[in-house]
Amino acid sequence: TQDNLYLFETIDSTHTYVSHNLSTIDHGSVLLAYSQTAGRGRRGRKWSSPIGKSLSLSIVLKEFSDQMKPTLLTQLTAAALQQALAEVGLPIAIKWPNDLLINRRKVAGVLTEAMFERQVLQAITIGIGINLNQSQSDFPTEIHPKATSLALETESPFFADKLIAQFLKLFEQFYQDYQQSLDPEPFLSICRQESAVIGEIVTVVQGDKRRDVEVLGIEATGELLVRDLSSKEKMTLISSEVSLRNP
Ligand code: ATP
Ligand code: BTN
Repeated sequence: TQDNLYLFETIDSTHTYVSHNLSTIDHGSVLLAYSQTAGRGRRGRKWSSPIGKSLSLSIVLKEFSDQMKPTLLTQLTAAALQQALAEVGLPIAIKWPNDLLINRRKVAGVLTEAMFERQVLQAITIGIGINLNQSQSDFPTEIHPKATSLALETESPFFADKLIAQFLKLFEQFYQDYQQSLDPEPFLSICRQESAVIGEIVTVVQGDKRRDVEVLGIEATGELLVRDLSSKEKMTLISSEVSLRNP
């Protein structure tokens, strides 16, 4: 792979930058920003990424097969980040499909976007936002009870160099293995093992519908297998359509 690195002190969003520069950014490029003024989450939500306290990354993939669905790549990335954090001594759980939690609070998130130019798929871009050194008051008030940073959890300033190097190494390994084998099991088994939601009762929010379910597992497709608590019916959930609450 190429290993071009783009470094920004402040940018609107590393993802938005990629979407505006699709033709010039090579496969395997990594964009890293110390802050974003318009960081994006799923479905138009905002991702808070203040200067000096957070890290925002986008990885640009242009070589992939049809089988490598964005939802599976999100889970590959979550697994690589979980393992990288475990290696620096931080046990962390994966909240399907795209959040990483410590003590049930969100410390990092993954956002995978397929990017098109004139209706032709040009790249799949994977974004990772990590909360490094925020104190509780650095988070927007509405996410206070839900967010945490690595510094808050370790009770000391967090230096990200080792974590990022380890994460990129694991990501590349997982990605190359997956590209060759097209077998998602190695990273899905990490997502299952380190899951914050399997075995739990959670509320599924889908548009303006809510239902309580028991989470049974993650399927080979990356979908979440659940049982509806009122109808007792089993069903699978597609990550792009739902949010989970209270895991
Ligand atoms: P959730 O279930 O955590 O609300 P989601 O996965 O359904 O999230 P996303 O779009 O993935 O939704 O996450 C964006 C949400 O994350 C925002 O709506 C906000 O609540 C929260 N958020 C924004 N910035 C941060 C941050 N730096 N750390 C933790 N949470 C954040
Ligand atoms: C989430 O919503 O949980 C995921 C947030 C992912 C944010 C990352 S930070 C780098 C990239 N650029 C963006 O604007 N968003 C993603």
